[in-house]
Amino acid sequence: MKDEKLINIAKNSARNAYAPYSNYKVGAALQTKNGKIFTGCNVENASYGLTMCAERTAIFKAVSEGEKEFEKMVIFADSGKMPYPCGACRQVISEFSKDMKIIVVNNDNIYETNNAKLLPKQF
Ligand code: THU
Repeated sequence: MKDEKLINIAKNSARNAYAPYSNYKVGAALQTKNGKIFTGCNVENASYGLTMCAERTAIFKAVSEGEKEFEKMVIFADSGKMPYPCGACRQVISEFSKDMKIIVVNNDNIYETNNAKLLPKQF
């Protein structure tokens, strides 16, 4: 799928974000190597540490449906601040793909990278 289309899917997923504490709504669109798309959004909690990021929501949805081979992921935030994946998400991504293409998008910018660059010397 073209990056533009995947970006639009991530944008739509951000609408489902449950982010009453941060007001920072994030959507992710994950494409598997066999062309399936899994979406995710951040889901916050009154006990803040229980919050789940959009990226891990999408990855766990995919793995729970039997998909573990990932091609690329778009992460979108409806904000001026870029949704670079947190350390926990980088580690979870590296479990399944060392070099997955990652496209980080907000209302102003697009930044393309891969997980090997975001998390070198993965455990
Ligand atoms: N968040 C994500 O879902 N993904 C990111 O890449 C950055 C941060 C969420 C977690 C929390 O709900 C909110 O954004 C503020 O940190």
